[in-house]
Amino acid sequence: MRICVVGAGYVGLTTAAALANFGHEVQCVDMEQAKIDSLTQGKVPIYEPGLEKLIRKNLKKDKLHFSSNVIESIRDYPMILIAVGTPSREDGSSNLSYINQVINLIASNIKDYKIIITKSTVPAGTNEWMHQMLVEKGIEEDLFDIVSNPEFLREGTALWDIFHPNKLVFGTRTDRPIKVLKKLYESEKVPYIFTSLTGAELIKYASNAFLATKISFANEIARICDVYEVDYSDIYKGLATDPRIGRYFLNAGLGFGGSCLPKDLSCLKHSASKQNVETKLLDAVMEINDTQIELYLNKLGKALPSLEDKQITVWGVTFKSGTDDLRSSPAIALIKQLVQIGCRVHTYDPMVQLELADVSSYINQYESVIGSDVLIIATEWDQFLKSDWSEIKSRMKGSIILDARNCINAQTVRKHGLLYLGVGKR
Ligand code: UGA
Repeated sequence: MRICVVGAGYVGLTTAAALANFGHEVQCVDMEQAKIDSLTQGKVPIYEPGLEKLIRKNLKKDKLHFSSNVIESIRDYPMILIAVGTPSREDGSSNLSYINQVINLIASNIKDYKIIITKSTVPAGTNEWMHQMLVEKGIEEDLFDIVSNPEFLREGTALWDIFHPNKLVFGTRTDRPIKVLKKLYESEKVPYIFTSLTGAELIKYASNAFLATKISFANEIARICDVYEVDYSDIYKGLATDPRIGRYFLNAGLGFGGSCLPKDLSCLKHSASKQNVETKLLDAVMEINDTQIELYLNKLGKALPSLEDKQITVWGVTFKSGTDDLRSSPAIALIKQLVQIGCRVHTYDPMVQLELADVSSYINQYESVIGSDVLIIATEWDQFLKSDWSEIKSRMKGSIILDARNCINAQTVRKHGLLYLGVGKR
């Protein structure tokens, strides 16, 4: 099949590379010429394990192409997959201006039948609105089918996720595109879920909202464990062994961040409130998440009477390990609060050198702790778990290790004469 992927961001690039690898002829387009130039040379502007290699392989096989000529590509390709950004607005709603632009381009350039697939995460009702827009612009319904096909990739494991999906979701208005859609991904054994356009949109939001709910639940239980001096990891084992509960997304810590969970939760809440539906559970999920940083700072405040003027090292600045993405990173929110309190903040991250006012960024994990009163673990990179604690002890001025991801072995840390702090961790 010949597919034009619009948007060379995180989702667009991963999807384009995977579709090309399935054997389709893929053209990935983006307005940003500089980005297209570097992608054409096989240089990928984001860090995602394996992505650059996959892109180079398919460039070489002539299955994948990049172009900034959006109009020509939209005109030429029978299938258009939209993967443009839908950033959050202040009120939680999604900014759909890029989607709007693409629909206008399609409307002005469509000559023959096209399947238009929305991969971008869009609020309930958006795909119906896109259909309506095309009709209002005079495009015959015979000339196109809109399909809502949300993605469920996680940053850091995106290629694994796209090659091993647990489901494929397609929202359609009619049965007409279904035969073609079944050939799009090489995944015969996974469940195909066909639903309405809005049904598919809501599956995506419900998934991310449920994942966020699990995390806030874990964080609330960890708070309860903390006062009873019980180790949350024991509770975790008890929960995770029950298949009805499952073992994923129950790690307690600084809370959820990134470009998806917080944004999608806000958007779902916004959509519901526009329809006068109360979202008490989702409100609580967000409220718990919004108070996680304060919780950890309070914990630190109890161990150190005054944080002002203290030197604090924060390990990990991205929104989770395995990525270089800083968007809505709880670690950065924490760092900003520490700076505001008057702390001198040092940071170290295996992927990113943070550039932030009043923060010193290090390229060596052990140099970053020299003279520090506190070390905070803000993301769970493997290399942090394997740290040399005697080296750390000898370089730090103080002895507090605040494990804000519940990922460090407390006994090992204590054995080296350091003070281990965590929430719901003994
Ligand atoms: C999330 C979903 O997991 C994907 O299925 C979805 O496709 C994607 O959003 C999206 O909508 O595009 P992602 O944002 O890459 O993926 O990252 P997650 O692995 O979900 O982590 C999100 C946040 O939750 C991170 O800050 C992470 O540290 C935190 N988290 C995750 C926890 O605090 N505890 C956990 O047990 C798991």
